[in-house]
Amino acid sequence: MKHEALLNLFEEKPGEFISGEEISRQLLISRSAVWKQINKLRELGYEFEAISRVGYRISGTPDLLNAMEIQMALKTRRFGRKVKIIETTSSTQEDAARLAEEGAAEGTLVIANEQTAGRGRQGRKFYSPRGKGIWMTLLLRPEKPLPYTPQLTLLSGVAVCRAIRQLTGVEAGIKWPNDLLVNGRKICGILLESAAEDELVRYCLAGIGIDANVEPEDYPEELRSIATSLKAEAGNKINRNQLIAAIMNEFEMLYDLYCTEGFQPIAALWEALSVSLGREVRTKSRLGPVTGIARGLDESGALIVEQSSGERLVVFSGEIEL
Ligand code: BTN
Repeated sequence: MKHEALLNLFEEKPGEFISGEEISRQLLISRSAVWKQINKLRELGYEFEAISRVGYRISGTPDLLNAMEIQMALKTRRFGRKVKIIETTSSTQEDAARLAEEGAAEGTLVIANEQTAGRGRQGRKFYSPRGKGIWMTLLLRPEKPLPYTPQLTLLSGVAVCRAIRQLTGVEAGIKWPNDLLVNGRKICGILLESAAEDELVRYCLAGIGIDANVEPEDYPEELRSIATSLKAEAGNKINRNQLIAAIMNEFEMLYDLYCTEGFQPIAALWEALSVSLGREVRTKSRLGPVTGIARGLDESGALIVEQSSGERLVVFSGEIEL
C-alpha cells in the first residue's frame, strides 16, 4: 500500500523534511498522488508540517493502543498484566464476559479502539468513537456476596478519578455513583456488571469509558452541551496507553486496600472527590421524586439524602440530578 511505503520513507529520515518531488520519485507516483497519500496518513492520525518548496515532515503520530507501552508503565502484579486490544467490537463488556466464562484471571483487561454498541447504565447507549477514547473492561473476581458490588462501583470511580488527576492535572470530580464530571460536564462513565451464583459473586466487569481525545465537533448534537473530553479540558492530546496504565495502578492499589481494610477508606476517598455532597440533588424513591441535600455514603455505598423535613433517605441505585 502506497501510504505504508510513504510512512517507511519518513521513518528512514526521522525529523527531516522530504520534498514532494523526492517522494514522487521514490514511490514512482505523481505529485497529486503524493498529496493524496499524505492526506490518507492524516486520516489515520498522522500530523504533518508542510512548507512550500521544502516538503513535508511528520509532526505528530497517532495515539495507537499498544499493549507493550501499557505494560511498561504498570506497577501492578495482576491488573492489566493480561491485555486484549481489539480494533472494533460491539462492547468490551461482552468480550470480557466471554473471557470471564472461559476462566480468565482477575485483572484481565479488554480494550477496544472503537465500540459499535457501547452500553451505558440503565440501558443507555454509550458513544465510543474510533481512536478517540478509552473504552475498556476490567475483570474482577471479588470473593464477596452480591450486595457488596455497589461498593466496587464507587471504588472504580475513585480509581479512574485519581488516575486522571495525576496524569492530566484535570480536576475531575465524581457524581454519585460514579460518573466523572469536569465543570459540570461528563468526561467518563462507568458500568459495573456482575454475574453471581447463589448470591456469591462469580465475577464483575468494570466497564470504563473515558472521552480522552474526542473533539467538541465530534459529539452528536444531544451530547454537545453535556459531555467534554480530557483533551478539551487539559488543552493537549492525552496518551491513552499511559492513562490506561495509571488507572490499572490506582485500581489495584485501591482494590487491595478494599480487600484488606474494607469499604471505609474507599468511602472516605470517594467523599473527598465527590461533587455531589453538600449539594441539592433530585432523585426518585419508591414513593416518587425526592429533593434533598446529599450528605454522604452509608456503609453499603448508598447515598444519604437529607430532605427539607430533616428526614434522611437512602438512595441505593439509579440516577441523581445535581
Ligand atoms: C454510563 O455512563 O452510563 C456508563 C458507561 C460505560 C461505558 C463503558 S465503555 C467500555 C465498556 N463497554 C461498554 O459497552 N460500556 C462500558
